[in-house]
Amino acid sequence: MSFGRMPIANGFLDPADVAHEYFFELSPAFCEPCGVIQLVEQPTPDRMFHGRYAFHSGTSRAMQAHFQKFATSTIEGPLHGRADPFVVEIGSNDGIMLRNFKARGIRHLGVEPSTNVADLAREQGIETVSDFFRRALAERIVSEHGRADTVLAANVMCHIADLHDVVAGIAHLLKPDGVLIFEDPYLGAMIEKTSYDQVYDEHVFMFSVTSVARAFAPHGLALMDVEEQPTHGGSMRYILAPAGTRPVSPSVAIWLAREKAQRLDRPETYERFRRNCERSRADLMRVLESMRDDGRRVVGYGATSKSTTVINYCGITLEHVAFIADTTPIKQGKLSPGAHIPVRPAEEFSKPYPDYALLFAWNHEAEIRGKERAFTASGGRFITYVPNVRVVS
Ligand code: SAH
Ligand code: TYD
Repeated sequence: MSFGRMPIANGFLDPADVAHEYFFELSPAFCEPCGVIQLVEQPTPDRMFHGRYAFHSGTSRAMQAHFQKFATSTIEGPLHGRADPFVVEIGSNDGIMLRNFKARGIRHLGVEPSTNVADLAREQGIETVSDFFRRALAERIVSEHGRADTVLAANVMCHIADLHDVVAGIAHLLKPDGVLIFEDPYLGAMIEKTSYDQVYDEHVFMFSVTSVARAFAPHGLALMDVEEQPTHGGSMRYILAPAGTRPVSPSVAIWLAREKAQRLDRPETYERFRRNCERSRADLMRVLESMRDDGRRVVGYGATSKSTTVINYCGITLEHVAFIADTTPIKQGKLSPGAHIPVRPAEEFSKPYPDYALLFAWNHEAEIRGKERAFTASGGRFITYVPNVRVVS
């Protein structure tokens, strides 16, 4: 299917740069033999990840807590009892995960090509190399630091088009008794919730348990366990190790069977998904157009990467949304990709409160509702579109 002409999802831009904005065709396709949803065309990595990368992991407190738990479970699980363990994280961003290893004095290395966020991590004393992870870099890491006890990756494996080169690199980097733990937005959740905003330039793959098992096995890495995660609107954590080195948890077979029952292996499932996306778009625009016609003030909440797909696919413009409020300094004062809706500091959300907040950061709903009690108490309402379009107090 095609979501049409799309800009870079995190490409928040200065007004002066509007004339040179880059666009590509956002079209995901289902690959039956791999069981994966994959973009047909992805912009080159240097267009997405560079010294002005706008996604800063540390902006959500809930995500800070999530990565603290992730690190603790790794330290108390696979790293337990190991002498001088070494942890490598791919896509370590501002150090949201690795700071927990650093605090425990554990040897670590982050691999982070976006230099601005890598610098934020280094400022906290987190060892970081600014490069794209691939097999050649894995070889360099092994020669400089030795092999890793654990390789971690959150919300990045699905970003890298040359998956087989990356997996070969991880297989080389891991000790024979090492463990790979990664998590990404989950295909099953996207299909169930029609959360089509998970599809954007960075997400070249939308993985499932089935597709991960198939992609990693040829490199000698077997799926040992899987754990569903609530983050990013529905994610899956995959735990892999060199085949035969650890017992396989019953969860793997349970999830493989669940995916069959959900018919994630059937093309018709994706035909239905496409129709659901079209329905969601029509429902959202009906609501936004009636609000515009009634003179209601609507402000976007959270300049997420995901919102770039929603805004540009649905045709949301300044007529519908006055501005987008966001806590990330690098996004503030910029224009949203494609539609050029201004992004303003989060504090402006209450000056004065709008009639409606269009919840682009729907995956952080609990955290946002907790902060915005005064908005709803004063009669403000949220517009949300996952799993379906609703206006809620
Ligand atoms: N792990 C963090 C950041 C996810 S965003 C979190 O979950 O919040 C994805 C990150 O991966 C970005 O910081 C991006 O610069 C980085 N990245 C993209 N391609 C990469 C690659 N090939 N190797 C390592 N990191 C990469
Ligand atoms: P997020 O949903 O994590 O990511 P993605 O870019 O992957 O779609 O992005 C959350 C965005 O929402 C980020 O720009 C920060 C912003 N935000 C707020 O403005 N206020 C908040 O309370 C929270 C939790 C996030």
